[in-house]
Amino acid sequence: MFAVYADSFSTQDPLSGLVVGERPDPEVPPGWTTVTVKAASLNHHDLWTLRGVGLREEALPMILGCDAAGYDEEGNEVLVHAVVSDPDWSGDETLDPGRSLLSERYQGTFAEKVAVPRGNVVPKPASLSFEEAACLPTAWLTAYRMLFVQGGLKPGETVLVQGAGGGVATALITLARAGGLRVLATSRDEAKRARALEIGAHEVYEAGARLPFRVDAVMETVGRATWSHSVRSLRPGGTLITSGATSGPQLDDAGLTRIFFLQLRVIGSTMGTRGELAALASMLDATGVRPLVDRTLPMDQAREALAAMAAGELFGKIVLTR
Ligand SMILES: NC(=O)c1ccc[n+]([C@@H]2O[C@H](COP(=O)([O-])OP(=O)(O)OC[C@H]3O[C@@H](n4cnc5c(N)ncnc54)[C@H](OP(=O)(O)O)[C@@H]3O)[C@@H](O)[C@H]2O)c1
Repeated sequence: MFAVYADSFSTQDPLSGLVVGERPDPEVPPGWTTVTVKAASLNHHDLWTLRGVGLREEALPMILGCDAAGYDEEGNEVLVHAVVSDPDWSGDETLDPGRSLLSERYQGTFAEKVAVPRGNVVPKPASLSFEEAACLPTAWLTAYRMLFVQGGLKPGETVLVQGAGGGVATALITLARAGGLRVLATSRDEAKRARALEIGAHEVYEAGARLPFRVDAVMETVGRATWSHSVRSLRPGGTLITSGATSGPQLDDAGLTRIFFLQLRVIGSTMGTRGELAALASMLDATGVRPLVDRTLPMDQAREALAAMAAGELFGKIVLTR
């Protein structure tokens, strides 16, 4: 079948290991099923995979992609939950120590078909297009859990979103606004700051700028480049939720003194549960809020799409279609 996959790793030139070609049809273990992919969205995770972060050489060749929307074997319109936990695991799938994401241990979604455990198939609301639905399972689910589950944020509270242009960041801004929060956002880029206002931010600032007031919570996916600013931007007792480190995990100043003296809370967040994915889909269905799609390309143009993400030339999600 047609597939986009990693054949080798390179930290310096991640796209050098990318192949747009053919792979065997998926093997379907007992309890698993296949989904015919109509749309899949890119995540920074796909670049980490091409760099060799999170999977071993023996796993190659590995089809890229965590997210998909398409048809199940009965022809129903579905979403794929990307977190694969042990079949015997019960409760929050993200807390299973043995869990993996599609494209880490099991083949990913940038293909004609993807095999997933039956329980990972979630109904797609008819009101969402395949392209919109394909944005939900990783970036939008991560944003939903950061804000409303790990952050426990309530209407009227204030939140700062760092690095406004990314897939997770645009989801954070849109969902926070829909959830009744006061939303501040930073970006390195003036045009991205302007667009952040359009999608729901109340106020935007240059990366690292001093804010006029301290916020209840900060949503962090950037890491080294923004961490100190995030810690400095919180009110006493405020909460920093971290789910990524695009600019690197090595911190110049972790802000420990501020963290203990101001009694800040630092909470990690990863993906979300199947139930949270279903709740997110219902929230979009009910509110009319939609993922911001930067561009849609045919899946055989995956190289161009990944190059744009590597260069940071995006605002929102890039979607690949079949
Ligand atoms: N834990 C999880 O479950 C989970 C799930 C999804 C994503 N993530 C992680 O979250 C991060 C974002 O993912 P994504 O898919 O949204 O990526 P993306 O679409 O490529 O976005 C990258 C973001 O990083 C910002 N950025 C990059 N370099 C920066 C720098 N030097 N200084 C300031 N900002 C910088 C960009 O902001 P501006 O260009 O606007 O400044 C942009 O918001 C990745 O590290 C990813 O691995 C984690």
